Amino acid sequence: MTLAPRLPIRIAPSILAADFSKLGQEVCDAVEAGAEWVHLDVMDGHFVPNISFGPDVIKSLRPYTTAFFDCHLMISPADPYLEAFAKAGCDGITVHAEAGPHLHRSLQTIRSLGKKVGVTLNPATPLSAIENVLDDIDLILIMSVNPGFGGQKFIPAMVDKIRAARTMVGGRPIELEVDGGITAETIGAATAAGANVFVAGSAVYKGDGIAAYRENIARLKAAAEDGRR
Ligand code: DX5
Ligand code: ZN
Repeated sequence: MTLAPRLPIRIAPSILAADFSKLGQEVCDAVEAGAEWVHLDVMDGHFVPNISFGPDVIKSLRPYTTAFFDCHLMISPADPYLEAFAKAGCDGITVHAEAGPHLHRSLQTIRSLGKKVGVTLNPATPLSAIENVLDDIDLILIMSVNPGFGGQKFIPAMVDKIRAARTMVGGRPIELEVDGGITAETIGAATAAGANVFVAGSAVYKGDGIAAYRENIARLKAAAEDGRR
């Protein structure tokens, strides 16, 4: 079984943990501090027990950076809103396999909108839910917490799921992203299991401003690289 060439380590700060009173500055600071992606946690209070922000907020953030906008839709249904998030400036749109009955159609729609196609699974959802759409996606997001809130503990059982996902992907150039409870203490196991993109909210937006964010991101990257050795 050939595995895809190792994709670069990427840190994707979740702005859910940022200071909402100055989101534009917080996005700039995280990118300036070394983040490659910006993780946008969209929550509807229905699919998850929390409400965050919608496409208009993302549209207002777009001019602040050219960094990859990695949009995680924790909404159901997702299909009626895909175009709005694409137009708002998202570069990648990730939908939950659990969000509706026609996952393949949702992925086709994201592709038709010219965006990177992502699919994500809640911790209890088996990988078999996406085994038939591997040729239609660019990214798999493994939830390592139950979605809805930042600052939760990483679920250790997800390490085996990450490893199984990497094997399932085989030689396909699919980004393997992990989301929830990623810290310098947990990122190594996730990297060793085959993940290459790491969402981190509270572990990045800890301390105040760009110097702290730079230190936090550097620690995460160092721990991720250690996990690859
Ligand atoms: C949870 C979100 C995660 C979360 C990550 O529903 O999808 O992206 O904000 O926050 P931390 O890194 O603090 O667990
Ligand atoms: Zn997320």
